Amino acid sequence: MVTIIVDDTEIQAEEGANLLEVCLDNGIFIPNLCHIPGQSRPRASCRMCFVEIEGVGRPVTSCTETVRDGMRVRTGTERVRRLQRAGLQFLLSVHDVDCGHCPSNKHCPLQDTARFLKAGLKSKKLDKILSSPPVIREHPLLDYYPNRCILCGKCLDACRRKMGQPLLTFAKRGFETIISFFGEKERTALACGEEPACAAACPVSAIRLHSAGEDAPGA
Ligand code: SF4
Ligand code: SF4
Ligand code: FES
Repeated sequence: MVTIIVDDTEIQAEEGANLLEVCLDNGIFIPNLCHIPGQSRPRASCRMCFVEIEGVGRPVTSCTETVRDGMRVRTGTERVRRLQRAGLQFLLSVHDVDCGHCPSNKHCPLQDTARFLKAGLKSKKLDKILSSPPVIREHPLLDYYPNRCILCGKCLDACRRKMGQPLLTFAKRGFETIISFFGEKERTALACGEEPACAAACPVSAIRLHSAGEDAPGA
């Protein structure tokens, strides 16, 4: 075990444990949208979990850090908050904020993060870049809502756990990145049954069963 100091609180942790997980387990909240506990190579795509570590010149993502003895960490500095708000703004610039019609309303990590950062979900300063069509209905069982997806990878992880390997993947690049089932559609439909792990794992209702019966956004 080693001792680290986070925001003036002394914490005992296993050497090499994931810094974000240690903080969360000890009641210190750090915004995080893409962290998957126990993952050996975090994707670190959401850019929300920044902290400052004494002796390190710039804020770092806590989900990619491991604890070492004597580490001193600050989770709420001005630089950290600035980066987190910028990260959230970026995510929201490609997100269709339509909470009233969204199944994740009131249990949504984006809403929680915005509240924590005292930031709005709808910014007039931002140009929106939304995908078209707003819902992709190519899969025999599932609908995919690209303008809700935060590209956290939790659906892939859940599928990998259930199937041994993910039957869905990231496709395209940059602003156009989406989740795709590629040629696995039929196999997925057979294997997943009525409770696909990906849909259950998605924190923002970006993958839904057809039978959930949502109208296309804007319809
Ligand atoms: S995922 Fe749904 S509930 Fe969350 S911010 Fe987006 S529209 Fe609102
Ligand atoms: S579909 Fe959901 S779980 Fe998968 S990457 Fe998008 S937001 Fe994350
Ligand atoms: S939780 Fe660390 S970058 Fe997303």
